[in-house]
Amino acid sequence: MAASGMMKALVFRPQSQSLAVKDITVPIPGPKQILIKVEAVALNTVDVMNIDHPIALQDMRVVGTDFAGVVVRIGEDLQTLEDPRMKIGARVAGLVQGANSANDRPGAYAEYVVTDYDLTWKVADSVPLESAATITMCGLTAAQGLFYRMGFPCPFYGTPTFGGVEEPVNVLIYGATTNVGLFAAQLVRIAEKTAGKKVRLIGAASASKHTSLKKAPYQYDILVDYRDDNWPERVREATDESGVSYAIDAVSVGSTVGMVESTLSPLGKFAAFRTPIIGGFDIAALKIKPVVGPVWEGLGVEFGYHGVTLHANPDARSFAAAFFKYIGQEPTSGSNVLQSGPIRLMPGGMEQIISDGFAVLRKSSLVSRAGSDQKDETHLQPISMEKLVYKI
Ligand SMILES: NC(=O)c1ccc[n+]([C@@H]2O[C@H](COP(=O)([O-])OP(=O)(O)OC[C@H]3O[C@@H](n4cnc5c(N)ncnc54)[C@H](OP(=O)(O)O)[C@@H]3O)[C@@H](O)[C@H]2O)c1
Repeated sequence: MAASGMMKALVFRPQSQSLAVKDITVPIPGPKQILIKVEAVALNTVDVMNIDHPIALQDMRVVGTDFAGVVVRIGEDLQTLEDPRMKIGARVAGLVQGANSANDRPGAYAEYVVTDYDLTWKVADSVPLESAATITMCGLTAAQGLFYRMGFPCPFYGTPTFGGVEEPVNVLIYGATTNVGLFAAQLVRIAEKTAGKKVRLIGAASASKHTSLKKAPYQYDILVDYRDDNWPERVREATDESGVSYAIDAVSVGSTVGMVESTLSPLGKFAAFRTPIIGGFDIAALKIKPVVGPVWEGLGVEFGYHGVTLHANPDARSFAAAFFKYIGQEPTSGSNVLQSGPIRLMPGGMEQIISDGFAVLRKSSLVSRAGSDQKDETHLQPISMEKLVYKI
């Protein structure tokens, strides 16, 4: 640990809209917490969204959600706990809320981070920390949508069956190349094994990505091009006009929500990942309403978010802890249960998150994609089926 007890962190000052690398105190783990030396972080749209439109005005917020690193200190009360995460040197990944809440919460873009041990998962030795850093936030988001909110068959929580839904179970993932979509497809295949019922997995994504999406670990059965205006019709045709029983809208912006709804069977269910206000869609116009919720519920604490206070949700916390324990298992192949999608390892560190990483996220926005600019270097092009990662 830094001898001075100080560390570098990416600090946001909402009053002046300034974002800079600063020296702050290394945090100390409290009850049930561990201190992690951060080795790699991943960038999520939400990290930059809540810089551009700050959620609260407290000063000196550490930014960032997704991290992976090495355990360097364990809370006093955890010393005797038998758990693979409870060892100095254990490789773990996790998520924190950073500046994405009105409360004072730790952020991931720092040399060290403190978090509750059960909100981390153990990274297999064969998995690089740069890949592990990309999995937690979008993986938990996808798992919440499928298992926690839609009641999909789950090997670690809730029900293990599809109930009376007929085989093959038609499932659509719209935005199959988003990171949420990449994890959702892997979880659908896990649900299929859990329930022992064949799933017909249908995806909507750019045609250029269809070949990759047909391969493991995604294994889509059918793919349609989201740029084809008639893609919902193509989906209905693929289900012999019966419609899909479950859908994930891994974009949830504007018209996507209504189009995904139009592919559902009369008793179908679907999950969206933005609220109507943030996603800009009219929920009253939908006959079947999507289940929606913020990933932060998984932290199990009260938080202020876009003008509302969400109460602590112990069930969502239990679900998240069970999910992290599950994905920290190593199957016989020696790697973790979920695989990271393709990563773009960015040059530089925290300073370049400000100058480069956030600039790339802004131009990759799902709301208004600025498109590629030939003048930009390769690492500054908008992302497409990729995750931005920095080493710390
Ligand atoms: N509820 C929550 O707490 C929570 C948590 C995490 C994420 N989210 C939300 O979940 C969504 C996905 O997030 P993410 O981080 O996974 O996204 P992402 O990885 O940044 O998504 C990038 C991908 O989206 C594809 N794409 C862009 N516009 C599209 C469109 N109109 N239709 C279909 N695909 C499109 C792009 O494909 P091409 O390059 O081929 O166009 C690109 O591969 C976002 O709306 C995000 O805000 C919510």
